[in-house]
Parts: sequence; structure tokens; C-alpha cells
Amino acid sequence: MSEEKLSFQAEVSRLLDIVANSLYSNREIFLRELISNASDACDRLRYAAITQPGLTAEDADFVITLSLDKKAGSLCVADNGIGMNRDDLVENLGTIARSGTAAFAEALEQKNDQISLIGQFGVGFYSAFMVADQVEVLSRRAGEPQGWRWTSDGKGEFTVTAAEDAPPRGTQVRLHLRKDSRDFLDGARLREIVKTYSDHIAIPIMLAADGKANGEAERLNSAAAIWTRPKSEITDEQYKEFYHHVGHGFDDPWLRLHFKAEGVIEYTGLLFVPSVKPFDLFDPARKHRVKLYVKRVFITDDCEDLLPPYLRFLRGVIDTEDLPLNISREMLQHNPMIAKIRKAVIKRVLGELKKKAEKAPDDYASFWDTFGAVLKEGLYEDSDQREALLKLARFHSTSGDGLVGLADYLGRMKEGQEAIFYITGDELDSLAKSPQLEGFAAKGVEVLLLTDPVDEFWLPAVGAFEGKPFKSVTRGGAELGKIKAAEDEQTPATDSEDQETAAGLDALLAFVKLTLKDEVKDVRSSERLTESAVCLVADEGDLDIHLERLLQQHRQLDVTAHRILEVNPKHALIRRLAERVGETGAGEELEAAAHLLLDQARILEGVPLPDPSGFARRLSDLVAKGLGA
Ligand SMILES: Nc1ncnc2c1ncn2[C@@H]1O[C@H](COP(=O)(O)OP(=O)(O)O)[C@@H](O)[C@H]1O
Ligand SMILES: [Mg+2]
Repeated sequence: MSEEKLSFQAEVSRLLDIVANSLYSNREIFLRELISNASDACDRLRYAAITQPGLTAEDADFVITLSLDKKAGSLCVADNGIGMNRDDLVENLGTIARSGTAAFAEALEQKNDQISLIGQFGVGFYSAFMVADQVEVLSRRAGEPQGWRWTSDGKGEFTVTAAEDAPPRGTQVRLHLRKDSRDFLDGARLREIVKTYSDHIAIPIMLAADGKANGEAERLNSAAAIWTRPKSEITDEQYKEFYHHVGHGFDDPWLRLHFKAEGVIEYTGLLFVPSVKPFDLFDPARKHRVKLYVKRVFITDDCEDLLPPYLRFLRGVIDTEDLPLNISREMLQHNPMIAKIRKAVIKRVLGELKKKAEKAPDDYASFWDTFGAVLKEGLYEDSDQREALLKLARFHSTSGDGLVGLADYLGRMKEGQEAIFYITGDELDSLAKSPQLEGFAAKGVEVLLLTDPVDEFWLPAVGAFEGKPFKSVTRGGAELGKIKAAEDEQTPATDSEDQETAAGLDALLAFVKLTLKDEVKDVRSSERLTESAVCLVADEGDLDIHLERLLQQHRQLDVTAHRILEVNPKHALIRRLAERVGETGAGEELEAAAHLLLDQARILEGVPLPDPSGFARRLSDLVAKGLGA
């Protein structure tokens, strides 16, 4: 049959270029990757065979076989798993569609330390080209008669041909080793690599007898599912390698949970919290990646009900004794047994996080930086766990660089303070400089600085913590009057001076409001400003400023129309303007000033100016006047 020549997807070519040219010291990981794929292929067939027993009839015992051909300089990794047909080969070995490799490609866009990235992520199947200048894959999909041969030298193209004789079910990956990689033609070396990286694989990995007729194949791994073994017999390294295999992540896990539940329902779990953000953490599907096994048989990595989306950073397996082996994926939906496991696992994971938060706060802070935004989704999605999650939550605040918990915050509240104050925005630095915080800073009141989009959703749902409501400093009254300052250092003005300013201020506010008309909802004197002249706030019942801006990015609404312009009565500019209100001939100048005040507040808020040229003109006029032009 004729040969088909196809090009790799552009990203694959780029990746292969890096892989082939890297003098990567850990070249041996190619074997881990190929064995990992072989094991996945067996798991998938084992599951398929539950409903279609015919698929494994010819050969029911799964095995992964390594064989060496020293003369030809080749190494073959073979499995009798699910196999691939022509389309599978083109799709799976010609593009980057898959988990581990996609993470690598993503990271490549951002960093240039490419070599260390290979170690961090692994490049899956393509790592074969670290050691081989020619790779040949012969595969036959279970249940199909036709086999297929895929070959490539890893330089931009690959070929696919129909195989002449039907090969055995499954996949053989034959590597023609590069001159500098012939050291892998050594049985002892392979034995060592398998022990190091692949001992946890639950399928026997055999080393075929080297050229000897009737020679006994040698088993290289213990081939027991790692989660079924006693903890005391598993080394950290073995756990880590299992995590790499099951989680397609190549970092060191931040946390490991290995547990066995006995009683009403029986299940074992081996779960990991990664230390590095998976590349698809914020994928809209929000799927978790924990694999479900029943009595050691892989069932699915897509059992939605097994874990809530807010724990989707977890990797690992749950293996239960209490479901039938022939369970279909449909039967898994709304399954009461799964619901029970889910509940118990959530409790266990949150309990473990709590321990970490208490015992190792710094370490916990690094977890929170990585996954806090995801965990916070649980605050509005899982009301059962809301209290537990609120205790786990950490925030940046005006009280320092570190993260604070809500209990710390409550402990630092000022006399007369009734609420937990917060401000939301896109970026920590600019948020910390918000004018709305000035009055709070002056009174020593701590404000939480929230920068995750999810904050806009859980805050309204949660409402309060231990009886104290959450309150945005950019909305409603500041309530600062009721809070006692650390030391009251305001110098009281004389009565008549006060009254005079108050009258002038009222007139100014009325004038500004009249001038700005529909551009603002109201103009008010502010309690929350001490240094800035103006700021924008939202009315009590209106959407918070930041949320509205988020929404506005999708629908075009005019933000400032709903805003209240707050004016600092103590600011020199405002005082001077208040004095001018009564003076004859000041009208034009005051009108310009009113517009400038609003534009200034918009700039501080990061809102685009609706009329930038008007702003520039007014500002130039004013400065020119000031300079005596
Ligand atoms: N031995 C194999 N048997 C069946 N399919 C395989 C085998 N090796 C690789 N594949 C397919 O190729 C895909 C890509 O493999 P790989 O690059 O290792 O990425 P990953 O394992 O992270 O999905 C796999 O997801 C699988 O569909
Ligand atoms: Mg793989």
C-alpha cells in the first residue's frame, strides 16, 4: 500500500527541534514517557473490554515488553493495549493535543530556558527523539484488523503506511538509537531506569531475553498498583514518579494524601496537590483530573461528580471496592456512592490544607498563591464547606506584604469597626494606592486587597464572616466616622471658620453637580479621602466599581453615569474652589474645574476618559492661567 507523507503541526516541529538539539542530561526519561503511554493504553483497553470482552479475547494479560537489538542499535517498547489506527496515529503523534506536551508548548511561549523545561514538563512521546534519529511505530487498534506503520526522523515530516501483515494488538515503538545514545542498549541500564521511574506502573514491564532463543523474559517492576501498597513500603521518589505518570505534571508535588477509607464505603485515594499551576487551570470546562478506578481497574478520568471544580488542581486516583466493575460512564452520573466519596474526599483534603495552614503558614502561602483563586470558587459553589473555606482563605491587605487570614483580620479590627473592609481591582500595586483607602489608612483600619476575578462572585454570596459583613470601600458611605482613630490628631477649626467653609462647600457641590448633570449620580463630600481631591464610589445598592468594569468589558455601559463623585473638603484645591463659588465671573473657570475633577477621578479609577481632548484643553488652559499666561 502506498505511503502517505504528512507534516507535523508547526508547534511539534519546533518542539522536536529543541528536543533533538538539547544536550539534556536526563535523556533517560524518554523511557518513562513511553512506558507511561503503554500503561495508559493498557488501562484504556481494560476498561473498553468490560463492555466488549471480545476486544481482549486473543490476549487477555496486559504486558509491556522492552526488547533490544544490539546489532541494529534499536530499542523497542511494546504494549498490548488499545493501539492506534491511521487517524489516531496522525492525530496523536503529529499534533500537540495532549496534556503533558501541551503544557510544555505553552511554557515555551513564555520562557526561554527550554532545556530545563523539558525536565519540568516532559514532552511525552516526542521525547523519543532525544535518543533516536528514527522512530517507527507499528500499531493495531483493538478490534480492528488493519495495522499501521508510522515513521519519522523528527525533522518536520512523518509517514503513515498500512502494515502488510496484521501486527499484534497494541503498539510497538521502535527507536533507532543515535550514536550518542547507544548506552541504552544495555539491559542493566534499562533495569535501573525502570526501577527509578516506572516501578509504580501496575502492569508488568518485561525485558525480553537478549537474542537468546527460549530465553526467559525478566520482569523489571513490582507491578502492583502503588496506592494498594502500604505507605511504609513506598519511597518519596516512587510517589513522585507516580505523580508524574498520573498527573502529567513534572514538578514536585506540594502535598500528598494517601488514605484508605473503610466502613460504609471502601475506597483508597492517592492524591497530590501540584506545586506548579497546571497550564489549563482556568480552562472554562473546569474539569478535575483525578482518575477513578474500581477494584484496580481504570474506569475514567472524566467522572465529573467525583470532585468539585474548586478542587480541580488535585491529581491522582480514587479506587473503590463498592462500584460494579462493569459500570458505564452514564451510571456514574448522580451515583449515590460517588456522591459519598466526593463528600468524604472534600472533607479530607480541606482538613489536610487546614493542618498545613496552621503548621506551616509560609509553605501554605505558596500553595495559596498558586491555587487560592480556584479554591475560592468553592465559597459560592459549596455552601456546606463555606465556613471551612473562609478559614482557609488568605488575602493581601493594607497591613503588609504577607497574606492574612480572616481570623487575623478580625483580631486587628478597630474599636467601632463593624465590617470587614475590602477593595477589588486588577492589580495589587495600583489597588494599594487607591484614593478610597486614604481615610482608612489614616485611622489605621486594615483593608483587604482583592485581585482575583472570582472575588466579585463569592463576596456577595458569602456576605459575612463570623457576623461581620464584608464591605467594599468603594461603595456606599465609608462609615469611618464611627471608627475611633488610633490618635485623634485633627486640629479643630474655629466655629465660624467651619461654618463658612461648610456653606461654601455645599454651594460648590451643588454647582459641580449641576455642571456634570448626567455624568454622575451624585456629588458628595467625602470621609474617605485625606490626600486626594476626589474619587469615585458606587452607591450602596449599585454594582461595585470593579465588577461593573469587568461587566462593561463585555457590554458597553457607561460606568461613570452610575458613580458618585466624592470630594475631599480638606483638600486645598477644593477649599479654594469653594471660596470661588460666590465670586462674580468665576462661572466659566469653575465649570472647567468641575469637569477636570471628574476626569481626575476617572483616571485614578482607571476608567478611560470619554472626552480626552476636552480634558487636555481644560488642563492646558488652567495651567496656562496658573503660569500667568
Ligand atoms: N503506546 C501507545 N498506545 C496507544 N496510544 C498511544 C501510545 N503512545 C502514545 N499514544 C497516544 O498518543 C498520545 C500522545 O502521547 P504523549 O505525547 O505521551 O502525551 P500524553 O501521554 O500526555 O497524552 C497519547 O495521549 C495517546 O493517545
Ligand atoms: Mg504520555
